[in-house]
Amino acid sequence: MGSKLVGCGSSVPKLLISNDDLAQIVETSDEWISVRTGIRNRRVLSGNETLSGFAVDAAKGALQMAQLEAEEVDLVIMCTSTPDDLFGCGTQVQRDLGCKNAWAFDITAACSGFIVGLISATRFIKATGGGFQNILVIGADALSRYVDWTDRGTCILFGDAAGAVLVQACHSDEDGLLGFDLHSDGHGHRQLNALAQGDDDKLISNSNGAPLFPPRKSSFSCIQMNGKEVFRFAVRSVPQSIEAALEEAGLSSSSIDWLLLHQANQRIIDAVSNRLEIPSDKVISNLANYGNTSAASIPLALDEAIRGGKIQAGNTIATAGFGAGLTWGSAIIRW
Ligand code: ACO
Repeated sequence: MGSKLVGCGSSVPKLLISNDDLAQIVETSDEWISVRTGIRNRRVLSGNETLSGFAVDAAKGALQMAQLEAEEVDLVIMCTSTPDDLFGCGTQVQRDLGCKNAWAFDITAACSGFIVGLISATRFIKATGGGFQNILVIGADALSRYVDWTDRGTCILFGDAAGAVLVQACHSDEDGLLGFDLHSDGHGHRQLNALAQGDDDKLISNSNGAPLFPPRKSSFSCIQMNGKEVFRFAVRSVPQSIEAALEEAGLSSSSIDWLLLHQANQRIIDAVSNRLEIPSDKVISNLANYGNTSAASIPLALDEAIRGGKIQAGNTIATAGFGAGLTWGSAIIRW
């Protein structure tokens, strides 16, 4: 039993923050940000907007392209590190889409989340021999919620967005997942994180007034990152991972139509494509417009490239995610 991608969609908030806007709140410039990262603009949630709302819009696009009704979906996998609810928001997306025959859960794997979700979806289909027919995989994040807007080292990088694909069961000789590779290394956790923290140490007392325990009302710190180390990790690990996935697929980098990496930094994208000797006209990049949108970046760029006519039916795409955890992984897919 194989699985193939039959639809995609994406959705981004309206509120745009340019490099010049950021230069008004921290000591930076459009030139510094553009040269060091390739990013020019990013979109962020505002007002009453929710991450689930954008995830629903993206998923609707994928369903429409796949010509499927919401009731035909068996499983919704919501890949996010920034859910609207600590317990996850996959179920709210399922509810709002009207996927009444599906069950739903969340996956947290930072900027690798979409790759982990995509591979998980194909494994659900394979392991059940097609017991799951249609799986929505949504990558959505609102890292703006955890950005320290006074830290010029991180606030320039991130944006909010959602992207989705519809993974459908198919005959094994049509399998659209040609190879994959997944890793994590918790030793690198200190390089990039947003830690839980207690922010209330008022003691709870018993009826006699004797102190019992200090309750911890938890929140999360802003994103802490050692940019140089994350950069080195990405440039070292991602080419190796793509090569491993290509080997599983029985392919070499010269047979790739498109390289579509997690959109973190144009210099990372360039370094990885150089190492794999993939020419720049085969490299998809849209981070100038959106910044690093974490789990959303791959399905967002995929959707734009497919709807824009770049990626055509039958094309082979090498895609890789990498980020906090540390986590990283690749998938070779045929559209
Ligand atoms: N504007 C102007 N100057 C800045 C800025 C800024 N926004 N940020 C840092 N600087 C300064 C620094 O203070 C430093 O000044 P100094 O030389 O006087 O000390 C100088 O610029 C160089 O700073 P570096 O941190 O060494 O700059 P670097 O070239 O490494 O670029 C960057 C920083 C863009 C963050 C880069 O390291 C990077 O992109 N790393 C990867 C980050 C990434 O992709 N993270 C996301 C992973 S995905 C996930 O899971 C969320």
